[in-house]
Formats: sequence, structure tokens, C-alpha cells
Amino acid sequence: MIKVASIVGARPQFIKAGPVSRALRSQNMHEVLIHTGQHYDQGLSGAFFEELGIPSPEHNLGVGSGDHAAQTGAMLSALGPVLLTENPDVVLVYGDTNTTLAGALAASKLGFPLAHVESGLRSFERSMPEEVNRVVTDHLSSFLFCPSETAVTNLEDEGISAGVFLVGDVMKDVFLERLKLAKQSTHLLDEYGVGGGDYVVTTIHRAANTDDPARLQGVIGGLREVTAHDVPVIFPVHPRTRKAILRDGIHTGEVMVIEPLPYLSLLTLQSFARCVVTDSGGVQKEAYWAGVPCVTVRDSTEWTETLAMGWNRLVGAEARSIAEAVLECIAPSDRPELYGDGQAAPEIARLLRDNLTSE
Ligand code: UD1
Repeated sequence: MIKVASIVGARPQFIKAGPVSRALRSQNMHEVLIHTGQHYDQGLSGAFFEELGIPSPEHNLGVGSGDHAAQTGAMLSALGPVLLTENPDVVLVYGDTNTTLAGALAASKLGFPLAHVESGLRSFERSMPEEVNRVVTDHLSSFLFCPSETAVTNLEDEGISAGVFLVGDVMKDVFLERLKLAKQSTHLLDEYGVGGGDYVVTTIHRAANTDDPARLQGVIGGLREVTAHDVPVIFPVHPRTRKAILRDGIHTGEVMVIEPLPYLSLLTLQSFARCVVTDSGGVQKEAYWAGVPCVTVRDSTEWTETLAMGWNRLVGAEARSIAEAVLECIAPSDRPELYGDGQAAPEIARLLRDNLTSE
């Protein structure tokens, strides 16, 4: 039986791992799940395992927070002995976090083949930690599972063509599975006192926004300006953003600052929103699939197709630009399928099964 060691650690990876874990197991592969412990709060970690039906990890390395080098280094040294003991046929990593990079380095130093889910994405901004994580991981991978044609082209431009598979986005698998249920959970709107189509939901957590007081001030200022036009703003806040808001003494005014939400609840709020404001990659795509316009408070995005289709706008972190974009946002009439058909996970499992032989 083929043995796959899947390495996860941060919130978006738990979401992505759910459908892949199920597909691996249903296609008769033996999966060992390794949690680095990068995210450890119940609201960022435990809740997602329970909600998305992800099996409990066989190993939890409990690495926790730290500066990038210390965090990545601690994961790397903790992963080595676990991988040697498990001796998998392939190591599977997801996305672009420090967990992804540590998993990729650990696998390649020990000579295990590496598979990367969400391969080929580029923002072309090397100052983003995620960009460095993606580039290094792709260059070490034997299996590169891409969500879009653009991702395949990005890899080609870097001289990578072997082992590249266009499979679509595993986040779409989860999204399509859960959308109906999310749309039934309208009681959440009552809970926050909002009506369908009349509010904004926002998520902000990128280092570029939280570690720069001027940018964070601009983003929150933009959200406050939106509330001043009688448009409610719901803001489930990542712990790092909450700490930064306190550190910089930023006033959030009428913005509804709430705890991080489970996957399904955020999906409900996204799918009934008038507009989504975010610096997350996953949320930009979910907004598109839900047919809700998105305003992205970054200077670049890896999900360029959503811009090209007119559903997403890049506005940076200046208060006035954010407020204007939100108040003006309208849904374009056309919304072609993007990032696959929701069957990426079974395709990834099939490709691994067909291309690997167990020891
Ligand atoms: C990480 C990823 C980012 C991803 C995000 C999803 C990297 C470089 N970044 O960012 O790409 O979009 O996860 O959420 O890997 N903290 C807690 N509790 C936790 C985890 C973190 O309070 O359970 C706080 C700590 O103050 C910590 C800070 O958040 O120092 C940052 O956490 P970290 O894991 O380094 O990065 P994220 O911002 O979560």
C-alpha cells in the first residue's frame, strides 16, 4: 500500500487537507497526517479538524509561533525523525506557509519524493514570505499539482515541466461540498443584525498589513469609512491582527470585530455579503465562486484570473481607495468557471496512486 505523509500546520492547510485525506483513503492509500503545530489556537486549528472531518493527526510537533527562521527551523528539525520513522513513499505539502517550506526541505534532505498541492502560484513579490516558500517548494517537488493554467505557465517560465499536473483547486472541492449548507445557515445573519446583500465581511492577516502600522491604520480606516455610510462591516479577526490593533492603539469604531469563525460560518457570511474585503488568497477565490465582488487590500495577487474577470480589485491599503472600491462594487454579469470543477482531490489521489509504487 502506498504511504503518504501529509504535512499541515496552518488554517488554510486544514481546509485543503480535508478532501485530499478523504480521497487518499478512499483510493486505498495509507495516509499519515503530521501537524507541525504552527497554528495551535482552537479557533485556528482544532475547530477545523472537527468541522471538516479531518482525521486526528498521528503526529503533532507542537512547534507554535516564532520568527520565521526560528519557526521554520524548529519544524525542520522536528520533522526529520518523524519522516524517517514513517518512511513514506511521498511527502505531501500544501500552499505556501512556513509549514510548507519546512515540509519540503525535510523531505528533500531525506530523499523522499515531494508533492505540492497549489503549485505554481506567484505574486512576483519576493518580500512576501509566502512567495519564497512557494518558489522553493516548487523547485524541490516531483509532483506539482496546479490549480490554473497560469500556475502551469509560471512553472514553465521557471524551467519546470516534469511532474506538472493541472488538477484544479482543492479549495473548490470543499467550497462546492459546503455551499448549500452554508446558504441554509441564515440565522447567522440575524445574529449579527445584518441582511443578505447589505453588509461587508472582511479578513485581514497578512504580515505586510499587520506589521506595518501605517497600512493597518489605512485598512481599518477604510473599513470605518464604509460603516460611516451605514454599511455594516463584520471582521472575524486573526490573533496576529488583534495583537497588532492593540499594539498600534487603532480604533475600530463601528466595525464589528469578532473572534475567528469556523469554515462554514465564514462561508455563510461571505455568500450573503454585498462585498468581501480581504488580504487572504483563499477568500478571494471563495468570493468569486460565491458570486460576491471582492476588494483585495494588497498590491498583488496570485489569483489574477479573478481580477481579469472583473470580480476582484486590488486597492492597496489606503483608506479612501478601500472605501470607494467597497461602496462602488458591483457584480459583473459574467462568471466563468475558474480553478477546476471541484474534483481536484480525487484527481490528486489518482495521480499519486498511478505514479508511485510502494516500497
Ligand atoms: C500563516 C501563513 C500565511 C497564511 C496564514 C493563515 C506563513 C509565513 N504565513 O500566517 O501564509 O495565510 O497562516 O492563517 O506561514 N497566532 C496565535 N495563535 C495561533 C497561531 C498564530 O495567536 O494559533 C499569532 C501569534 O502571535 C503568531 C502570529 O499569530 O506569532 C502569526 O502566526 P504565524 O503562524 O507565524 O503566521 P500567520 O499570520 O498565521
